[in-house]
Amino acid sequence: MFYKIFGWYIILINVLGFFLMGRDKHLAKAHAWRIPERVLLSVAAAGGAFGSLLGMQIFRHKTKHRKFKVGVPLLLVLWIVLIMAGDHFLITTSRYKVTSEKLPEDFDGFTVVQLSDIHIVRSQFQYDEILRKVKKEKPDLIALTGDLVDAPGYSKSNGTNTELTVKLCGELAGIAPAYYIYGNHEMILLDDPEKNPFKVAVEEAGVKLLNVKAETIEKDGVTLNVCGLQDPSILYKDPVLSQYNDNKSRIEAELDIALAGLDTDNFTLVLSHRPELLDVYAEYPVDLVLSGHAHGGQFRLPVGRCGLIAPNQGWLPKYTSGTYRSSNGGTEMIVSRGLGDSEIPVRFFNMPEIVSITIKNGKP
Ligand SMILES: [Fe+2]
Repeated sequence: MFYKIFGWYIILINVLGFFLMGRDKHLAKAHAWRIPERVLLSVAAAGGAFGSLLGMQIFRHKTKHRKFKVGVPLLLVLWIVLIMAGDHFLITTSRYKVTSEKLPEDFDGFTVVQLSDIHIVRSQFQYDEILRKVKKEKPDLIALTGDLVDAPGYSKSNGTNTELTVKLCGELAGIAPAYYIYGNHEMILLDDPEKNPFKVAVEEAGVKLLNVKAETIEKDGVTLNVCGLQDPSILYKDPVLSQYNDNKSRIEAELDIALAGLDTDNFTLVLSHRPELLDVYAEYPVDLVLSGHAHGGQFRLPVGRCGLIAPNQGWLPKYTSGTYRSSNGGTEMIVSRGLGDSEIPVRFFNMPEIVSITIKNGKP
């Protein structure tokens, strides 16, 4: 909620800044009462610096006054730095409701917390915040949807920087059953999928690895399916999936293996790092997909869900944040903006997020 309110506040204060510059210029021409300079500067200082600067340029107003000419751009830079700092350190919780007639009544209200793209826990503060916010959701299941490690960071430190991440995994597994699938960063790094020290430590901490596997969760004799897919990149390491040359075929092969033997009349949740493959998941009896990878499109507008760039989707990516429905209508997908960053270490209007999903029994 704070996230939305802040987005709308930034838009409105910038519109006000722009409007006041135009209005004051008009009053100046008419030799009428002027808007006090301290009001114009206060609006810029309160977050409207972009609108004020745009107004100054378009209406050719106050551009020769030093306190405006220098002050307003400085305020704009200050706000950009503040927003980027917030998008680095603060974490928000995004809550969604998913409704399905396939969900047994005993599971009504089942809560899944999704953590994606942590790219290694960076600080004690981040660790504490993630844990505090996850506990608050009282989850029945925790889904770690890939990129728990960061390939460049892991390689530079020889894997020694993962202590806090592994500790967090242990804490999460103590809150609720926690399932983990590999993202592209794990696929690059963990070249020995069985003996890699990070993988072993995460499993010892109590997190279940669900790469190309499924589990059924039972409650009073009824079940739901949780199915995990590993990222389809760099799959030459995998003896089965290396037979395929493209991501679509690899994910189809993974789904064939992971869903085999499951009763798909039951509600089926799939964990998969890649959002751009939604219509491939939807070829199968999959009800809900939890995904990440796009990092929210990295740079966003204050409101709406338009991101600038995402891996494997390019510029103006389609799947960056929130809920999506497949073309055939059969599968819903929720995309997390993730909690960390990798190659692009900055975000804009794109707070790291924990996703909390409550699944309800009923018509979608
Ligand atoms: Fe990532």
